[in-house]
Amino acid sequence: MAASTAARVQLVAGARPNYMKIAPIYWAIAEHARGSLDVELLHTGQHYDASMSDAFFRELHLPEPEVNLRVGSGSHAVQTARIMAAYEEVLLERRPDVVIVVGDVNSTVACALVATKIAYPETARRERPLVAHVEAGLRSRDRSMPEEVNRVVTDAISDRLFITCRDAEANLVTEGIERSRISFVGNPMIDSLHRCLGEAERSGLLEELGVEPGRFALCTLHRPSNVDRPAVLETILDALSEAAAEFPLLLPLHPRTRQRIESFGLRERIAFLSRPVRQAPRRGLIGLEPLSYLEMLKAMQSSRAVFTDSGGIQEETTALGIPCVTLRKNTERPITISEGTNVLAGVTRAGILDGFAEAERKSRAGARVPELWDGHAGRRIVEVLSRLTEVR
Ligand code: UD1
Repeated sequence: MAASTAARVQLVAGARPNYMKIAPIYWAIAEHARGSLDVELLHTGQHYDASMSDAFFRELHLPEPEVNLRVGSGSHAVQTARIMAAYEEVLLERRPDVVIVVGDVNSTVACALVATKIAYPETARRERPLVAHVEAGLRSRDRSMPEEVNRVVTDAISDRLFITCRDAEANLVTEGIERSRISFVGNPMIDSLHRCLGEAERSGLLEELGVEPGRFALCTLHRPSNVDRPAVLETILDALSEAAAEFPLLLPLHPRTRQRIESFGLRERIAFLSRPVRQAPRRGLIGLEPLSYLEMLKAMQSSRAVFTDSGGIQEETTALGIPCVTLRKNTERPITISEGTNVLAGVTRAGILDGFAEAERKSRAGARVPELWDGHAGRRIVEVLSRLTEVR
């Protein structure tokens, strides 16, 4: 049998926010590049709960990954090291021509480090894979955030940097990265949003919870800086309760946040519901298991405002025109503030309550969707990859 001449692209995912960034690249290869590119999925297993992983693959119409490293949780050093050791073996065996890492999680930096330093055996078609980073160049300038370290390192070593907004280019150039390595392709996370919104609209989540569009709010919290210290977490929950005096505020909980709420004795601040839900309270904080991707889209699109410390949700709310109150002191996604519906509120009571009012004002005044957040980023990425793999 003749060897395939198509370049083999390996898409790496490890944690929940990665899946909606790899999906558009997978779809674009399947729909536009059959013959020139082959694609396979690799999951590191950083996130492993069904609610943090499997459900997302199903809803994004992704097949089960060809490889799962099953590394699980651990300290940063242990998790990163486990991914690196396991990934090296897989890479030597499978020898993809291109490795694509996305976002800023530990899996991103771990796999980028291995793939840029690997030496394939002489019989392979190339010495090592071309390594591409999707969502490059975002900077919070806060090195106490593990994600910021992951971003800086991944960008410094990747061969190709795909950026979602023009300010990312300036960040990269300031760090000495040549413009020739950078491609502005738009935001693949918004491709997934466009593609899945129709299906999400049919979700029965709102009926199940008995909430009406525009008459509830939503909050996600998982950053260690917000949930690992009792005083900070308590202040945030108190401010959210105050904001939600007149309407229900849904709180789908990351496993880590739920564990912290329990261990800090804050459980009684929240009405925890398990599904199927019979009757949800009409106001205050409502704790839920993590939502699936389609449910999360439905909840975001229908909510009065979203409170969050996530990165991706700042972008999704801007694309949807929904007010977003970011519970952080900085953001690596300033375009969602300068053009979108996002307000940086910090984590004090006054900051959160003022931020809520300001975000609502902002979205009423009309925000805009950033350039190239148009649902076609995956296709642009694949066009660049097709060109790069032709000439190398
Ligand atoms: C990771 C990313 C973060 C991203 C977030 C999205 C890093 C450094 N952080 O944070 O950037 O915003 O994912 O969710 O990569 N756990 C489970 N089940 C799981 C996964 C995790 O119970 O499937 C619990 C474990 O107690 C684990 C903890 O969550 O120790 C933290 O998981 P980890 O993958 O280390 O980081 P996240 O906080 O999820």
